[in-house]
Amino acid sequence: MAFIAKRGTVPPTPHTEFYAIPNVLALEEIHGSYGFSGAWSRKIHVRSYPTEQVKPPERGGFALESEFPPEADLLQPYHMLTGRLPFEKDAVRGRKAIVHGPRTTVSVSKPAQDMPHDTYFRNGERHEMYFVQEGEGVVRSEYGDLRFRKDVYLSIPKGTTYRVDLDSEHAWFLVIESVYPIQFAPQYFNRSGQATLMSPIVETEIELPDLPPFRDERGEFPIDVKYGGGKITCTTLGHHPFDVVGWEGALYPFVFDVRSHHGIAREIHTAPPMHQTFQSGNVPNNGFSLCSFVPLMGGWHPKEVPAPYAHYNADSDELMFFCNTQYGARKGVIEEGSFTFHPGAAPHSPQGKAAEKSLAERGKVSPRLAVMLDTYFESMRITTHGWACRDPDYVLSWAEGRAPPQPAGEGWASPSA
Ligand SMILES: [Fe+2]
Repeated sequence: MAFIAKRGTVPPTPHTEFYAIPNVLALEEIHGSYGFSGAWSRKIHVRSYPTEQVKPPERGGFALESEFPPEADLLQPYHMLTGRLPFEKDAVRGRKAIVHGPRTTVSVSKPAQDMPHDTYFRNGERHEMYFVQEGEGVVRSEYGDLRFRKDVYLSIPKGTTYRVDLDSEHAWFLVIESVYPIQFAPQYFNRSGQATLMSPIVETEIELPDLPPFRDERGEFPIDVKYGGGKITCTTLGHHPFDVVGWEGALYPFVFDVRSHHGIAREIHTAPPMHQTFQSGNVPNNGFSLCSFVPLMGGWHPKEVPAPYAHYNADSDELMFFCNTQYGARKGVIEEGSFTFHPGAAPHSPQGKAAEKSLAERGKVSPRLAVMLDTYFESMRITTHGWACRDPDYVLSWAEGRAPPQPAGEGWASPSA
């Protein structure tokens, strides 16, 4: 399934003459792993060569390499309290990986400021999907300005040069990275790439960037490129990186509101495949499924048990971000921004009497909101940042009489500090 978007090379502005095709100096082509004309190629119509560096590359002023504590190899379920992490830095420099695998990384970023003036970022090794838990602002890229707000997914393909500016005092992002492109679940589409009538999502509900006039500016424009396992190389262009007049292709940034995932209810338990919004890679052989647990009516069959049954997914690690505390199976354990990591080798379930209590929820709409990532044949590891914000007693949270985690508040320190 591929989306095709095309922007005219002559944007409708009073200065049309400056946008005429002869002003297009070159065509920059960015290709994915499928080759030169596959589903993932895209073309950017540029006025200045993207190769025109005016300074030798240098090491960036920050790094995004994942580090691991010695205890990371101990098998156990994890609960990370990301709501308690501070708001700091900008969307990229404040990014903290909390779990990491060979092909997937999940980070939290809670920026309190815009990226520095006229600086840019490009992830040269992984595609990115942000989930916006809080805040609003604009992602500016060579594809145009893309506005984001609370509760949207924000897809930024590998190779996109961008910056993040906030309109709110701060923001809170869950950032999912994959070596593979991240797309809507292909089983929802017909051969023409249109959502079928049974699909919980519709491809036309994505929001696209608005392409402003080209930036005809000379100077020094640093781009921090992530490459080589989270290392940052700063390359400096002699012209504005958005000196472009248009783009075309099948891979571009977009926004999708999580509430545009229209959940499917039925009389018995609705299992995760029906909550799937996106996938990355060749599911179920590699990559991951990304599911949205939106408000939805629980099963109404007289013998339905709305809470999920105890299970483990032998070939999947299960990662879940709780946007609120209304997710029935783990009520009383989770808080806003809780992130659980259940390795495939260990089972998980509702706790205590949660399954019994859930009987009262038959046929009722749950106000839950959560995002879940299931990897395929990829074991994730908790990172040093994840370890530092974990609830150390989580593995005991299924035991009777266990107290919930220490309440958040002034002076809260990492349990492992
Ligand atoms: Fe599960």
